[in-house]
Amino acid sequence: MSGRFDGRVALVTGAGSGIGAACAARLAAEGAFVGALDLRAAGARATAAAIRGHGGTGMALTCDVSDGKQVEEAVATLVASFGRVDVLHSNAAVFDQDVYGRDRELETLDTAVWDRTMEVNLRGAMLMVKHTVPVMPDGGAIVLTSSVSALVGDTVHAAYGTSKAALIGFTRYVATMYGSRGIRCNAVAPALVLTAAARRALTPAQLADKAAERLLPWPCTVEDVANLVAFLACDESRCVTGQTLVLDSGTLAHRPQHAVQQSRDLP
Ligand SMILES: NC(=O)c1ccc[n+]([C@@H]2O[C@H](COP(=O)([O-])OP(=O)(O)OC[C@H]3O[C@@H](n4cnc5c(N)ncnc54)[C@H](O)[C@@H]3O)[C@@H](O)[C@H]2O)c1
Repeated sequence: MSGRFDGRVALVTGAGSGIGAACAARLAAEGAFVGALDLRAAGARATAAAIRGHGGTGMALTCDVSDGKQVEEAVATLVASFGRVDVLHSNAAVFDQDVYGRDRELETLDTAVWDRTMEVNLRGAMLMVKHTVPVMPDGGAIVLTSSVSALVGDTVHAAYGTSKAALIGFTRYVATMYGSRGIRCNAVAPALVLTAAARRALTPAQLADKAAERLLPWPCTVEDVANLVAFLACDESRCVTGQTLVLDSGTLAHRPQHAVQQSRDLP
């Protein structure tokens, strides 16, 4: 690896599994000291241990990102060991059956589902930025995980999609507020990434539908997301801020009406 993060301190939320675990591992592999933060202590510990197993420096942080006090303490714990934060990847989101799985049509929606989604996905990102910006003395890079669900509508997951859309606006506000201090803020918006959580959340028919929507034959992997997050977090993207970059293998680039029509006309 090129060591693009040699000597830098990175904090990744939702690092206990899936995309966050892969991004934490990538930043560590390229030289960063990584705080792997997750609500699930076992997940945070596993990611930090894996980083150390590969010769990197990883610290597990257990924290609910929707709780301001816990976020403050987690950031302080990281800073007590490493002095500051250079990279924040705010990636934690509610993606379980109890909340995301019940985020369905609005007329019967349990408003607790809406509230918890906003608390974790949106308030959590705000709290992470609020408590991390003051410990970025030399500027820094913030990457938020949004989703293609922010960019189009669907018949389910209004809370999730709305929270992810708000993160795109929040990205621009953070970029605007702190640009003069050398702090950049960008978002990544993946389409389906086949993490264990995504596999649990979607039926085989939904997975097949998503495959049919892609222009490219391959779906995004956690490594693809880590590639983009690492690019946005490192100096190679020093002039990129306030942007949302989509990784979707071409899902949103087209409106395949002719293809749909042709497939209907086929015998
Ligand atoms: N997998 C996909 O298809 C996909 C597509 C687009 C966007 N995303 C986004 O990517 C991110 C990661 O998704 P994933 O597939 O890796 O899911 P995941 O469930 O594996 O990862 C989310 C992590 O966040 C943690 N978390 C949940 N609530 C938390 C809280 N309150 N405080 C701290 N940590 C908390 C979970 O414990 C989990 O480890 C999420 O923001 C998700 O919305 C995923």
